Amino acid sequence: MSIAVLEGVKKKSQFYNDVIEGLQKSQKTIPSKYFYDKWGSELFEKICELDEYYLTRTELSIMKQNIDEIARKLGSDIQLVELGSGSSLKTRMLLNNLPNIHSYVPVDISDDFLADVADELQAEYPELNIIPVAADYTRPFELPVKESQTRRIAYYPGSTIGNFTKEEAGRFIALIADLIEDEGGLLIGFDLLKDEETLIAAYDDKQGVTAEFNKNILRRINNELEADFDLDAFEHKAVFNEEKSRIEMHLVSITDQTVEILNSAIHFEKGETIHTENSHKYSLASFRKLTKGHFHPVKTWMDKDEMFAVQFLEK
Ligand code: AVJ
Repeated sequence: MSIAVLEGVKKKSQFYNDVIEGLQKSQKTIPSKYFYDKWGSELFEKICELDEYYLTRTELSIMKQNIDEIARKLGSDIQLVELGSGSSLKTRMLLNNLPNIHSYVPVDISDDFLADVADELQAEYPELNIIPVAADYTRPFELPVKESQTRRIAYYPGSTIGNFTKEEAGRFIALIADLIEDEGGLLIGFDLLKDEETLIAAYDDKQGVTAEFNKNILRRINNELEADFDLDAFEHKAVFNEEKSRIEMHLVSITDQTVEILNSAIHFEKGETIHTENSHKYSLASFRKLTKGHFHPVKTWMDKDEMFAVQFLEK
């Protein structure tokens, strides 16, 4: 087998192991990172355009309104390291406003998307030094070298931090602190706690795009792991877990059923759920708890309704 084919097999078996392990727990789970195959990524883009899904447009407007000040805080000679690159609109806004940027380093687990994004951006910014890095950024990884005076800025937009539990998020913040070294900074977007009705609507939209996005994870398992999930036998559900300050997405089995995945059989009782995603909602105070000991917040920007926050932190 060629290296590329071997890599493919390795990834698939990782996917298989994670799915089987998750579905054997008493509360069945599937890790949310598996939402994003090609169709899943397209569905997520559709979600970002929904009236109910206020996150993307609010973050974008915060960035737009404060871009000059944000650029000043970041400085000029910087290596911009975007974790989980993909939100290209916000990236372009930054790139357009950062004079003398040293390099742009998009980091992503999925190397197919990564190469496409890098090619597109390179065509638009021929002068820019783009160095894509394919890595699981939740574990320690190597970054390209830079000169000592160049500041490393980690960029983590989109409230992606919300997918981590608080413990995981704390560990992740510590990892970023190591990554950027002493002179570096972190620009991060996170969603703010608000009334339950608004939150539920954002994760259970009228058109059913989020339901489709949630169920797509089963379609992906069918396609890639030879499973036989009946997508009509599961229902999308979004619930607000107040104690943990998070929206949870679940897939509810509407009947007793057994599903086969390669050579494993998984049984579902009627009403049993697969927990597919957490989306944590922070206050400025609870977010401060996460970053304490690693960073101090330099400046926080919010929209006037305080729906979403973009924060710049230094060590
Ligand atoms: C991409 C993780 C920020 O949690 O709001 C959107 C994903 N899930 N609708 C979020 C998502 C359902 C999204 N993040």
